[in-house]
Amino acid sequence: MTTNTTEKISFSVAEAVKEGLTKKEKSLPSWLFYDAEGDRLFQEIMNMPEYYLTNCEFDIFQKYKQEILSIISSGTDGFNLIEFGAGDGLKTEILLKHFVEQSATFNYKPVDISENVLNLLQERMKKSIPDLDIEPINKEYFSALDSLNEARKNPMVVLFMGGNIGNFLLEDAQSFVNEIANKLRTGDRIIMGFDMKKDPEMIRSAYNDAQGITRQFNMNLLKRLNNKLDADFNLDEFKHYPSYDPQTGTTKSFLISKKQQTVQLKAIDTTINFKAWEHIHVEVSQKFDEDLIENMATEAGLTVEKYFYDDKNYFADVVMRK
Ligand code: TRP
Repeated sequence: MTTNTTEKISFSVAEAVKEGLTKKEKSLPSWLFYDAEGDRLFQEIMNMPEYYLTNCEFDIFQKYKQEILSIISSGTDGFNLIEFGAGDGLKTEILLKHFVEQSATFNYKPVDISENVLNLLQERMKKSIPDLDIEPINKEYFSALDSLNEARKNPMVVLFMGGNIGNFLLEDAQSFVNEIANKLRTGDRIIMGFDMKKDPEMIRSAYNDAQGITRQFNMNLLKRLNNKLDADFNLDEFKHYPSYDPQTGTTKSFLISKKQQTVQLKAIDTTINFKAWEHIHVEVSQKFDEDLIENMATEAGLTVEKYFYDDKNYFADVVMRK
């Protein structure tokens, strides 16, 4: 990473932390979890037995790649496959490989705000699928859609996988889907991943594992602030608390101050007071059912075409059409 980017990033960390901790109800954005140590701990989360999400979508794509292709390629000469937040492409690769093997006419446009992520992804795909027509787009999601809309004639298929939609609160998820749908034309599609409602104990364990890895992951956020912003959070005086409400389907994670205390963040010249048992809200993970998905689609002017489930019905990839 160049010095320049590092500076930009720590500037935004400072801004985000100051904003989040001086609000009436304290919260921190979940992207703050992912520094080098956070990335490492998240890899561990994905490998733990309680985190049922890891292989679901992998299985769905293995099993239904041909059915997915049949739906999105029917009645057209070709399609534009746009992926939001492409990441390492491990799961998408299953679909892409199959589509290329079947000689489908399409191009793949991964969208990400990280140029580094896109470079790695492109290298990977060049090796594993040399015939893939790939064109990374280093923009924010909606401006990427706008610029694609200018020139295209074939239908667009927007991929938003991994249950990322669940990281929004429901009403924000709705606005997000509305905004995508507004930029689509009749016949365009969205394929979106949803973590489904299931045994509440199972959901809670996924966010509160027996080994305490998720706890470490959450506490690492405070460690990061200590290091980056010269803060003096005493980790023993905060606890990790996750909740799941079966009525709303919302999982939340909190860091809770065990006593009344004051924390200094020297690098941003800020003092934060905590009351005893006051919380910092750090994460949302929404769980869905078909009614919630149906409502969301309808409100955005979309029709649900097909639900693809993994063997255990934990997770669904849903095809929606405008
Ligand atoms: N948000 C992701 C999810 O819901 C990743 C995640 C798993 C996570 N465990 C977490 C984020 C704990 C913050 C805290 O699956």
